[in-house]
Formats: sequence, structure tokens, C-alpha cells
Amino acid sequence: MKNVKIALTKGRLEKGAVQIFEDTGIDCSQLKDKGRKLVFHIDEPSIDFFLAKASDVVTYVEHGVADIGIVGKDTLMESGKNYYEVLDLKMGRCKFIVASKKDTDLYGGYNHKKIATKYPEVARKYFRSKGMDVEIIKIEGSVELAPILGLADAIVDIMETGTTLRENGLVVLEEICDLSARMIVNVASLKLKKEEIEGLINRIQEYLYSK
Ligand code: PRP
Repeated sequence: MKNVKIALTKGRLEKGAVQIFEDTGIDCSQLKDKGRKLVFHIDEPSIDFFLAKASDVVTYVEHGVADIGIVGKDTLMESGKNYYEVLDLKMGRCKFIVASKKDTDLYGGYNHKKIATKYPEVARKYFRSKGMDVEIIKIEGSVELAPILGLADAIVDIMETGTTLRENGLVVLEEICDLSARMIVNVASLKLKKEEIEGLINRIQEYLYSK
């Protein structure tokens, strides 16, 4: 059997992804007690797991240094890269939302509204689909600060529990779409390592349906 390289997204999706591989019979004990290590080799079946930032997972898969990636649909919607999306892992569920201070009127007035976000492509497409010309301001984190400080009229962001919005006095104005973790595969790997990759996909699919 050929070795398969799998890029996992560090952080939010990490635990759920490791649990799925563990539950399908792959010994992931190294990944559970990992310290600061980033690469993990497993012998049976031969898999190299490595941990990367979400957007980098997509880059590694596109370039084929990872055969498989586990990453959020939010990152895929923003990335526009080349890969096959093969499975919805039905975990890491959250939503893309538009949020701001209560009583914000996003549609009133004649001036361009300012939207702060970590996801400029998603935000641009969403407002374009509504026929609205907005100014997008790219923010790297803690986007909730933008409407509080007056940098933007609203934000486009992911919401999981809603705690961050609530604790910062913001509300959901609109829901854009549901999100979850996905398995993506490099286009060439799906041919070159067909047996190994399809084997893994089937194992995980069976497990997800049995849950
Ligand atoms: C995400 C997102 C929200 C928060 C939503 O940020 O941008 O801020 O999580 O989660 P909740 O609805 O459960 O509160 P993340 O924790 O990834 O940190 P960041 O803002 O620094 O990117």
C-alpha cells in the first residue's frame, strides 16, 4: 500500500478530525499527545499526518504535498483553489453570518456600507448577489471589534456558538449559509493513490452513516 499524506487543520477542527480517523480504526494516539510537533507517521496503514493553518491546508493539497486535507468549508469558499471536495465530515458545524450592533440598517442611506471580514471573497460575493456595492475591509482576527470601534457597519464572519457576538453586544443580521469540515483530495493523487484514498473515503463514509 502507498503512503498517504494528510493535512489536518490546526485548532478548531483538529480534535474532531483526529477522532474521526481514530474511530475508523487508525491509531492516532500520537496526535492526541502531540506537544508542539507538526508531523506524525503512522505505519499501519501508512499515513503521514501533518498540522497546518486552514488556508495552508488547501495550498498543500493543491500542490500535491498533501494527498488529502481536512478543512472548513469557510476556508474552501474563500480559497478558489483546485482540488476535489469528496466528503462532508458533518463536524465543525457553524454558519457564515452578517452581524453588527442591534438596529443596524444595512440597506438604508446612499453611502457605501463598510463590511469588515476575514473572508473578503465570501463577503464580496454575498453582497454582489444582493445587488449591493459594499466596501470590504480585510481583518485578520477578532473581527467583532470592527463595528464596535466604528471601522465598519457590519461584519461577515463564522458563528459557532454565538458566544463571541453575544458577549460583545452584537447580533446576527443575516445568515449566509451553513458550514462544516470537508475532506479534500489532490486531483492527481486521486488517480495515483486511488486504492488507498478511496479506501479511506469509504471507511469514513461508512462510519459517518453508521453514527
Ligand atoms: C471565530 C470567529 C468568531 C468566533 C465565533 O474566531 O471569527 O470570532 O470564532 O465562535 P462562537 O460563535 O463560538 O463564539 P476564532 O476563534 O477562530 O479567532 P480569531 O477571531 O482570532 O480568528
